[in-house]
Amino acid sequence: MIRLDQHLATTYALTFLSCCAVFHSTNGQLPPQAVVWRFYLDCLQTLTSSHLQFVDPKSFAVLSTFRNSSFTEFFNPTSTQPPFFQIFDSSFLDILGANATINQISSNTSFLYAHEAPIYYPATDEVFFCSHAGDPLSFSDVNHNNQVAKISIKEAEGKLANLPVGTAINVTVTKLDLPDSIQMTNGGTGPYYSNLLFANSGRGPLLPPTVALVNPYPPYNATVLLNNFYGRQYNSINDVKIHASGNIFFTDPAYGYPQGFRPPPVLPNQVYRFDPKTGAVRVAATDFSRPNGIAFSPNGKTAYITDTGAATGSSIDLTGPATIYAFDVHPTTYALNNRRVFAYADTGIPDGIQLDADGNVYSGCGDGVQIWNSQGILLGKIFVGGVTPQVAFAGDGRLVILSEFRIFLVHIASKSVNLSYPTND
Ligand SMILES: *[C@@H]1O[C@H](CO)[C@@H](O)[C@H](O)[C@H]1NC(C)=O
Ligand SMILES: *[C@@H]1O[C@H](CO)[C@@H](O)[C@H](O)[C@H]1NC(C)=O
Ligand SMILES: *[C@@H]1O[C@H](CO)[C@@H](O)[C@H](O)[C@H]1NC(C)=O
Ligand SMILES: *[C@@H]1O[C@H](CO)[C@@H](O)[C@H](O)[C@H]1NC(C)=O
Ligand SMILES: *[C@@H]1O[C@H](CO)[C@@H](O)[C@H](O)[C@H]1NC(C)=O
Ligand SMILES: *[C@@H]1O[C@H](CO)[C@@H](O)[C@H](O)[C@H]1NC(C)=O
Repeated sequence: MIRLDQHLATTYALTFLSCCAVFHSTNGQLPPQAVVWRFYLDCLQTLTSSHLQFVDPKSFAVLSTFRNSSFTEFFNPTSTQPPFFQIFDSSFLDILGANATINQISSNTSFLYAHEAPIYYPATDEVFFCSHAGDPLSFSDVNHNNQVAKISIKEAEGKLANLPVGTAINVTVTKLDLPDSIQMTNGGTGPYYSNLLFANSGRGPLLPPTVALVNPYPPYNATVLLNNFYGRQYNSINDVKIHASGNIFFTDPAYGYPQGFRPPPVLPNQVYRFDPKTGAVRVAATDFSRPNGIAFSPNGKTAYITDTGAATGSSIDLTGPATIYAFDVHPTTYALNNRRVFAYADTGIPDGIQLDADGNVYSGCGDGVQIWNSQGILLGKIFVGGVTPQVAFAGDGRLVILSEFRIFLVHIASKSVNLSYPTND
């Protein structure tokens, strides 16, 4: 703690000193009071306002007005205009680094186009992602598939290069023309042997949920790897990650039924392990309300799974889980054992989940991306002010945030975990 507080103090001091240095070199002699005051305000603004907001947990331990809902009200005691970095613990500054930036790089206020399944493809510097499935504002239902699209991060960086930090832009969103085997995509990871790996929720009784590969280049052909559990269709496969062992883990909550695009579920809401070499599938973890996002620690020994039962798919249940659980990954069976609570999100549900190379945990929640250290301490948030289903690293120090109607590109200091398989690392 001492080291981190010192870090914070040092950051403040260095910024202030560099302001003073600029002042002295440009002015030479003592200016009138008004100029001094103006200069002081500029420095203060650099230090505290802009896009960094420190919120000391002690400052809100006792309040006189309260939130009744974690879904309709944000926790923003400084009333800062999003997007900004909300900092609860000074060690968040190590994650942000000295030059952290947030830019909105795409928006469409009439379409839930930026939902989940972000896959960074290094070879082309692109991010693939899907629209929401089953909402009127995603134009998808039992009769209409949702959309998978891509953006170029290179294009975004190029457009941002000559603009003031924080400027909003629109990059080109290119819709993929996919085969009919890919229905209601919701999760994604990879690359897996240079392919995109998608978790698809399925549509109606005849187009089952799948785990499938998609070619990242035209003609975007696909290969279904799995579409049943010993003959029964899954409920609505939601998200997927590849463990370092090569096993593919996926979550299967029954969201498609309450959202009107899947038949009644015929399996518990649980998490499975698929061994693509043998084709064998086994349950890896059960006893969830709605298992949703999944991710592994950098050493592959711990799995993190979000349970989003507070959102039932047709209503909100504030007493249901909005919770991240941690599990030990068994070294030979790959069962997920020793479940324990890791974190409970203060706003909305923790939906998709990712880790950085230091083992910090990032999850898309009701107000933006929330970030916990490996001990489950909430360090801070990338507060975008809206539902944020998923986030992904686009290489070291770069995050792409999917926030339904908007996409953000964020530069921080943290390094990514390489999600591709196989890796040469
Ligand atoms: C929260 O609920 C209480 C009691 O029902 C009500 O008096 C209060 O106005 C509500 N607060 C907000 C912010 O809606
Ligand atoms: C931050 O940006 C400044 C100015 O571009 C650069 O000199 C410095 O190396 C950067 N610091 C980090 C940690 O990236
Ligand atoms: C981006 O496009 C949307 C339309 O989808 C528009 O409302 C918005 O103003 C555009 N933003 C910028 C920065 O051009
Ligand atoms: C926003 O999405 C709607 C629905 O798909 C589409 O018709 C419209 O062209 C999009 N707007 C922009 C600026 O891309
Ligand atoms: C796409 O088609 C090519 C050419 O037939 C094939 O080599 C490749 O494996 C296919 N990719 C997928 C994901 O099905
Ligand atoms: C992950 O590792 C693969 C194989 O070593 C490499 O090709 C790829 O560029 C890496 N991905 C990132 C995002 O660094």
